[in-house]
Amino acid sequence: MSSAYKLMIMSQSRHFSSLLAVLIFICLVCAVSASPSLHPDEVKALKDIASTLGVKHLNLSEDPCLTKTLVISQVLKEGHNSTIRCDCHFNNNQTCHITHFILKTFSLPGRLPPELSKLQYLESIDLCLNYLYGSIPMEWASLPYLTSISVCANRLSGEIPKGLGKFINLTQLVLEANQFSGIIPKELGNLVNLEGLVLSSNQLVGSVPETLGRLINMTNLRFSDNHLNGSIPEFIGNLSKLKRLELYASGLREPIPDSIFRLENLVDLRISDTTAGLRQFPHIVSKNLKYLVLRNLNLTGPIPTTIWDLPNLMTLNVNTYESSQSKNRL
Ligand SMILES: *[C@@H]1O[C@H](CO)[C@@H](O)[C@H](O)[C@H]1NC(C)=O
Ligand SMILES: *[C@@H]1O[C@H](CO)[C@@H](O)[C@H](O)[C@H]1NC(C)=O
Ligand SMILES: *[C@@H]1O[C@H](CO)[C@@H](O)[C@H](O)[C@H]1NC(C)=O
Ligand SMILES: *[C@@H]1O[C@H](CO)[C@@H](O)[C@H](O)[C@H]1NC(C)=O
Ligand SMILES: *[C@@H]1O[C@H](CO)[C@@H](O)[C@H](O)[C@H]1NC(C)=O
Ligand SMILES: *[C@@H]1O[C@H](CO)[C@@H](O)[C@H](O)[C@H]1NC(C)=O
Ligand SMILES: *[C@@H]1O[C@H](CO)[C@@H](O)[C@H](O)[C@H]1NC(C)=O
Ligand SMILES: *[C@@H]1O[C@H](CO)[C@@H](O)[C@H](O)[C@H]1NC(C)=O
Repeated sequence: MSSAYKLMIMSQSRHFSSLLAVLIFICLVCAVSASPSLHPDEVKALKDIASTLGVKHLNLSEDPCLTKTLVISQVLKEGHNSTIRCDCHFNNNQTCHITHFILKTFSLPGRLPPELSKLQYLESIDLCLNYLYGSIPMEWASLPYLTSISVCANRLSGEIPKGLGKFINLTQLVLEANQFSGIIPKELGNLVNLEGLVLSSNQLVGSVPETLGRLINMTNLRFSDNHLNGSIPEFIGNLSKLKRLELYASGLREPIPDSIFRLENLVDLRISDTTAGLRQFPHIVSKNLKYLVLRNLNLTGPIPTTIWDLPNLMTLNVNTYESSQSKNRL
């Protein structure tokens, strides 16, 4: 072999290896930009959060923002939901932050984790259907984007913290089916953006604070199954966006303000067991009503035929009936 020829091969292979290097580099860049990853601080926070919740066998071998799940390696039961949602537009689409944290129906034995406050972009917390104890950590108040807290069906106890009044961006607060006791704090009236307030199935006493009359965006208000006393507040009739109102077995005693029946957007109205009762069947203005429960209200006389004029109650039934009929005919 001539030395000139050898030299040519060498230079070609040098060319080839530098080409290879360039290709590898491009591929690395591809891989990085194709799969953004959860911010390392939040990966670390997830471990603390899991530990406080009593999660065993947390598996972070895959990025939860990519799998959209918090993988917990244990026997999966029906209804388990461990959804993670992230915003991955940070740092040129390379870094993700968790926005939605859902860990539902896991029978978790721990506490609500104060460490969730380390997920600074968190918008929504859903920890329903566990066995979590304690109360709502005030550390969460430092989450500027937090709009929704659902901690229903746990064994949280003590008074509903007055400090929740500082969570002014909340639109949903769901504390249903816990062991909260004491009065409903008047500070909840500061949550002017609230659209859903669900306090049903606790051990709350006292009257409903008048401050809640400020919550004019309320669509879903539920106090059922508590030990409240005093009157059903007049202001409820002023919450004109209300769609769902549940006051059954709430403990509230006095007459039902007629203004409630004049709420135009009601879809679901459930009231029972007020000692003063109703006597006459009320005239309900909302044409959207789908569910109506009026139990143990000392109603007398016939059900007025106007109730059958509620188009949605009727339309719902008639449409289904008619559409199945017409299908049969076809
Ligand atoms: C963690 O999950 C990965 C797959 O996502 C699996 O290969 C691995 O075995 C799991 N680790 C444990 C300890 O279960
Ligand atoms: C988990 O819960 C969220 C919020 O309630 C819901 O949107 C989602 O569909 C659920 N996922 C599964 C797999 O059930
Ligand atoms: C990030 O991704 C979005 C689409 O998801 C794109 O519109 C945007 O230009 C990207 N931004 C950067 C800095 O790459
Ligand atoms: C409410 O949201 C605004 C706008 O995102 C934010 O600037 C503010 O800090 C939030 N307030 C609280 C108490 O989280
Ligand atoms: C209520 O809802 C409206 C319309 O969505 C919104 O503009 C307003 O900021 C909300 N909050 C209050 C306190 O009115
Ligand atoms: C209503 O509840 C409050 C607080 O528990 C109590 O002080 C008051 O005596 C109760 N009133 C009635 C009529 O039961
Ligand atoms: C209901 O609204 C009307 C008109 O805005 C107001 O005059 C009245 O005081 C309100 N009632 C209650 C109990 O908030
Ligand atoms: C039920 O209504 C009747 C009259 O309609 C009234 O005489 C009676 O006192 C009421 N009972 C209660 C417990 O309010």
